[in-house]
Amino acid sequence: MEPNQEPVGAFLRLHRLLRSNWITSTGTALMTLAVFGLVTLVGMHMMGGVWAGPYVGLVTTLVAPAVFVLGLAMVPAGLFLYRKRLAERVAQLSDRPMSLARAVVVLTAVNFAAVGTVGYGGVHYMSSVEFCGKACHSVMQPEYESFLRSPHQRVDCVKCHVAPGAQGFVEAKLNGTKQLLGVITGDYQRPIPTPVHNLVAAEHTCEQCHWPEKYLGTKLKVKAHFREDEKVSGYTNVLLMRTGGTRPDGSSEGIHWHVHPDATVEYVATDAARTQIPWLRVVRKDGTQQVYTKPGVPAEPRPAGELRTMDCNDCHNRSAHAFELPGDALDVAFANAMLPRDIPFLKQRAMAALQAVWTREEAPEGIRKHLMQAYAGQGGIDAQLQPRLEQVAKELAAIWLRNNWPERKLGWNSYPDLATHVGCFRCHDGEHATADGKGVVFGPKRMSDGAPLRDGSCNRCHTVLSENEEDPAVLDAFGLTR
Ligand code: HEC
Ligand code: HEC
Ligand code: HEC
Ligand code: HEC
Ligand code: HEC
Repeated sequence: MEPNQEPVGAFLRLHRLLRSNWITSTGTALMTLAVFGLVTLVGMHMMGGVWAGPYVGLVTTLVAPAVFVLGLAMVPAGLFLYRKRLAERVAQLSDRPMSLARAVVVLTAVNFAAVGTVGYGGVHYMSSVEFCGKACHSVMQPEYESFLRSPHQRVDCVKCHVAPGAQGFVEAKLNGTKQLLGVITGDYQRPIPTPVHNLVAAEHTCEQCHWPEKYLGTKLKVKAHFREDEKVSGYTNVLLMRTGGTRPDGSSEGIHWHVHPDATVEYVATDAARTQIPWLRVVRKDGTQQVYTKPGVPAEPRPAGELRTMDCNDCHNRSAHAFELPGDALDVAFANAMLPRDIPFLKQRAMAALQAVWTREEAPEGIRKHLMQAYAGQGGIDAQLQPRLEQVAKELAAIWLRNNWPERKLGWNSYPDLATHVGCFRCHDGEHATADGKGVVFGPKRMSDGAPLRDGSCNRCHTVLSENEEDPAVLDAFGLTR
């Protein structure tokens, strides 16, 4: 037998192949490292605790596969670059070249399957609430926490933020990479500006679950409010919201008329926040359209700016991330007995504590001290009141913490809810009219002090069954106790 024709086992032959040059060897080492790393991390992930956190997920699904793929690419690259040396080695193994070829094919197939599986896991992970909400937690924390309180807590972030299909995924990842760089370098806007201009159209997100033509009829709204007086007196607004929608015969009425399939509302906003809307039009399915403008604004040419078609998000902009105003948050807490009403001036003093300037670290203790000081008499705090105030301080801290992130410049009213007068009156101010002045978008005109004039227009959106009444009798009619 010739010395260079020695029969060697399959494993050894492969080993020789993989060690035939430094590039291939390094590639092999990287692949091995990635596999061992992955196995260890998956094991740790399953142990739970801190190991189940988003960073371990990030490494297992993004970093390890990336290293593996790099190694996988280096193996053939090295073999190709050093193909002369390879040819010599193969010549040495000429007794069983077929089994070598087979081994390479099988191993490549196994590797592709592995990459595919891990890659699928990675894509899946990158679509998870955990990845979106926690991997960049300091930035996304406000949205993540508000999402957890929203009616959409069980809807994955990507269902609303990423268009379905491969294109949507790629766009989101490109955009996400840009955002990730922004987070790493600290170069992103605070607060994150809204409206989100590249938000996926509602047709591909909201309307996958909600049926826009659904007739919703009217909806009773009972809103409890409390004053800042000594006895924290209450009053209740009772509204019948004319939510409407599309009736079975195709006609449409009420608030959801805007999403009726036969007509679209298009508008031009002259500011990025979309608060100024001087020009809008209703386009009907038969092609007819009607342009409404603010006084002094010509119908043609329309003002410069994006022509936007109104969808769910022009009103429900806070469907997953609602932040509160301090007064509203306190009203809800009083109404649900999370705060007692028999501590004099509690709303007023709670407002002061909430509106003072705090960092997230100092807020709980600062609010507590602020409150204690407000109730401290000459001999300190009443012994009976003290434990109750401790309880109040906890609730106030919770309210403050869920609405304020100073490092992101997110505070009270950074993100107003547009499904309220603020949003509606951008168009429904009683001023937008057709060129001949005959057609006017309904809405309350402003009085000299800026307050809306009470006219029939109020009732087109809702019937106010009671307003500012201490004890609305109408609630009795509904069998609702106060
Ligand atoms: C039900 C749909 C929905 C879900 C689920 C959802 N979002 Fe949003 N999100 C929105 C809408 C709508 C906006 C746009 C608000 C605007 O333009 O004013 C938004 C805005 C944002 C913004 C911009 C800042 C802001 O507060 O407006 C961030 C960041 C964000 N979402 C992150 C997330 C994360 C992270 C998750 C998952 C934990 C998530 N979203 C889940 C609908 C959703
Ligand atoms: C994956 C399905 C899904 C998607 C996508 C979705 N929703 Fe919802 N939404 C729901 C469900 C389910 C509820 C009912 C929750 C409940 O009653 O607790 C709901 C409730 C609501 C409500 C009523 C909230 C309330 O307080 O009663 C509004 C408004 C709403 N969604 C708007 C939207 C908007 C706007 C979008 C798009 C940005 C959207 N939804 C996307 C499933 C979805
Ligand atoms: C013109 C603004 C506007 C648009 C556009 C709009 N909505 Fe609404 N929607 C409202 C208002 C206002 C209410 C009444 C909610 C309230 O005050 O409780 C409402 C109520 C709802 C409710 C709750 C109904 C109930 O009975 O509890 C759902 C769900 C909803 N909208 C989903 C959608 C979806 C999905 C779209 C897009 C296809 C959409 N809305 C478009 C303003 C709008
Ligand atoms: C971008 C402009 C725009 C915004 C914002 C807007 N609307 Fe409208 N809305 C219109 C136009 C245009 C019409 C049709 C003209 C008319 O009926 O006066 C209309 C019609 C309506 C109608 C009458 C439908 C019917 O029964 O005939 C109601 C009710 C209504 N809007 C409620 C609301 C509410 C509530 C909001 C805020 C949550 C709102 N709109 C926000 C433009 C807007
Ligand atoms: C274009 C539609 C529209 C018009 C016109 C309109 N409103 Fe409203 N109104 C709304 C919406 C939407 C809400 C929000 C309901 C909610 O708080 O969820 C609301 C809420 C209210 C509330 C309850 C506020 C609270 O927090 O308790 C009162 C009171 C009210 N409106 C009075 C009026 C009066 C009075 C007029 C006439 C001058 C009027 N509205 C005109 C759409 C409208």
